Amino acid sequence: MATPLAPEADWVRVRVSGKINLALRVGAVRPSGYHPLSTVFQSVSLFDEVAVRWVEPGRFPVTVVGDQAGLVPTDGSNLAVRAAKLLADEYGPHRFGAELVIRKTIPVAGGMAGGSANAAGALLACSVLWDLDISPDELREFGARLGADVPFQLMGGTALGTGRGDELVPVLSRGSYHWVLALSAEELSTPAVFGRFDELNPDAPDELAMPKEVMNALVSGDAGALGAVLVNDLAPAAQSLRPELVRVLEFGREAGALGAIVSGAGPTCAFLAANEAAAVDLSVRLSSEGMCRAVRRVTGPVPGARLITT
Ligand code: C5P
Repeated sequence: MATPLAPEADWVRVRVSGKINLALRVGAVRPSGYHPLSTVFQSVSLFDEVAVRWVEPGRFPVTVVGDQAGLVPTDGSNLAVRAAKLLADEYGPHRFGAELVIRKTIPVAGGMAGGSANAAGALLACSVLWDLDISPDELREFGARLGADVPFQLMGGTALGTGRGDELVPVLSRGSYHWVLALSAEELSTPAVFGRFDELNPDAPDELAMPKEVMNALVSGDAGALGAVLVNDLAPAAQSLRPELVRVLEFGREAGALGAIVSGAGPTCAFLAANEAAAVDLSVRLSSEGMCRAVRRVTGPVPGARLITT
């Protein structure tokens, strides 16, 4: 376990998780620039930490530490800062300020909604710090104003997402799944992947079916059944921008993964393993192949944004 970021009593700390999409069906782009989605999210045990404490009203300094910290902006474009400002503007622009510290392990621009997770963490942490009277549903509404994945990053677990991916219902999921993540050396821009999706899919549908196969597999708790039905409509777009992903996915399948998918808009690849031993074996083989920046073993589902109380 990492040393706590901010052990002092005046810090409020929140743990947030990364996500993968077990199904990601994408429709035709809307005038808003967003695409309708029908997706099944699962939170996995790759955690960032967001800590906040009082500073004078109107100030929101942020420090980012940990993996790829240098890639995260520390100006007003930081999504966690925008989250804190959004709450402050709504509840007391002249009363609230916050210093933020973010510890990263979720890959930056990796298709695991790390930025959205940090925004979710900032929303929850600031609502506690400032003692705001705000319900989980209201927090999710603020989240949706910041980004399509933020509501799920507040909620966590396993959920069906429709609309932009921000209209959520929990999905029944039995058991725990073992994943191996292949982290890429380079980031991938989500809007660029959606843009390539539009080029590759001029006839994308307006209406999307529910990803029933994935939901049925989750109810059964059968990892083999789940591995066989993982689906991501953004994969061809991500692979056309990053052709090396094809080889990474193939390698994982040949090395015994039950299923292999690009996570969200990529470039992180997720491999479903039969059990912990198989995940260890797969992660060793992926690491020794040297095809990716790093390999992580995770499990899911795990909770979304949660206060750290110790
Ligand atoms: O909502 P968020 O800012 O995280 O989305 C980042 C980008 O991903 C959007 O600007 C858009 O290009 C794309 N996107 C999309 N349709 C969605 C979600 C995201 O086109 N449902």
